[in-house]
Amino acid sequence: MKIVVLMASPNPHGSTSILAEQFRKGAEESGNSVEVIDVCRMNVAPCTGCVACGYEGDCVQRDDNELIRRKLLSCDMVVFATPLYYYGMSAQLKTVVDRFCAYNSSLNRRHLKSALLTVAWNSDDWTFDALTAHYKTLVRYINFEDMGMVLGYGCGTPSMTMSGEYPEKAYRLGRSL
Ligand SMILES: Cc1cc2nc3c(=O)[nH]c(=O)nc-3n(C[C@H](O)[C@H](O)[C@H](O)COP(=O)(O)O)c2cc1C
Repeated sequence: MKIVVLMASPNPHGSTSILAEQFRKGAEESGNSVEVIDVCRMNVAPCTGCVACGYEGDCVQRDDNELIRRKLLSCDMVVFATPLYYYGMSAQLKTVVDRFCAYNSSLNRRHLKSALLTVAWNSDDWTFDALTAHYKTLVRYINFEDMGMVLGYGCGTPSMTMSGEYPEKAYRLGRSL
């Protein structure tokens, strides 16, 4: 499988990246090709809501979203990798998701596999309720097939993350594909 990871933490060496790299290791070991896209270092502007695209067509904004669009429409699986920010995904990832607007139908038709990798400081049992509800709703709406979620409770710093079970879980998710 061709897998694209949307790595959406502004910290290239942070906890989100640890999970993304472990996922990559596992997925590559089981014969998949994995491309990690650092969306925080790309130039992707927020959707302006002009709907000139008609929900499927050229976007009036000329930026790196075109690259992401091409990669997502030619892969088999998308992985959303994000830190938990105020109980949701990072703004950088939400910006990319909103720009799905211009290729909504094409993406829907691809029936991509998907996964969620995420980390948070907190470890209350409700920590990921809002994010997982959002992710599952996206999966349903865009006709993805969820392959799994790694929810990193108590992953507030890279050392907290490394001492927990979540890097291994991300590795195993990748390995299982
Ligand atoms: C702007 C911001 C918002 C955050 N919001 C939450 C939150 O709602 N709940 C939580 O448990 N942790 C929250 N955190 C902590 C991060 O999710 C956590 O430190 C994570 O490990 C950061 O991942 P990174 O190393 O990839 O940057 C927040 C951190 C920042 C910077």
